[in-house]
Amino acid sequence: MTEINLTVNGRAVRASVDPRLHLADFLREHLRLTGTHLGCEHGVCGTCTIEIDGAPARSCIALAVACDGSSLRTIEGFEDDPLMAELREAFSADHALQCGFCTPGMLMTALDFLRVKPDPSEADIREGISAVLCRCTGYQGIINAVKAAAPILRRG
Ligand code: FES
Ligand code: FES
Repeated sequence: MTEINLTVNGRAVRASVDPRLHLADFLREHLRLTGTHLGCEHGVCGTCTIEIDGAPARSCIALAVACDGSSLRTIEGFEDDPLMAELREAFSADHALQCGFCTPGMLMTALDFLRVKPDPSEADIREGISAVLCRCTGYQGIINAVKAAAPILRRG
């Protein structure tokens, strides 16, 4: 077992973990942060996306030990984030989710995309969210939601 110290959603965490433990399993099973979903578990679907040191990353292909000293933010860490609240509202208004399985990863990815590209075209949005697969919506509702949220997020 290896001891790791990291920050998760602003809270200091110390744990002793198997060196082969995936970060997603650490978050879900050790910390009970089950908002991080697991789909493919090999880096393709993006549903396990979280922030590691401020950048989106797939937690299913990261090792918990590799995050020693890092700062992580999961979907639960956006509970009081006003920009994420606007984006969630847009997702709800535009029917950008059905089963909701992809939604945590999609929201994290969309928020990061809008930070980088605050005034996107529809083609930009399609490319920006292409890192996350959705099996339900056909994407149009998600695209509409991101488009609707962009000017609100620009105003901050
Ligand atoms: S579960 Fe991590 S990319 Fe699919
Ligand atoms: S809403 Fe079901 S997978 Fe996206």
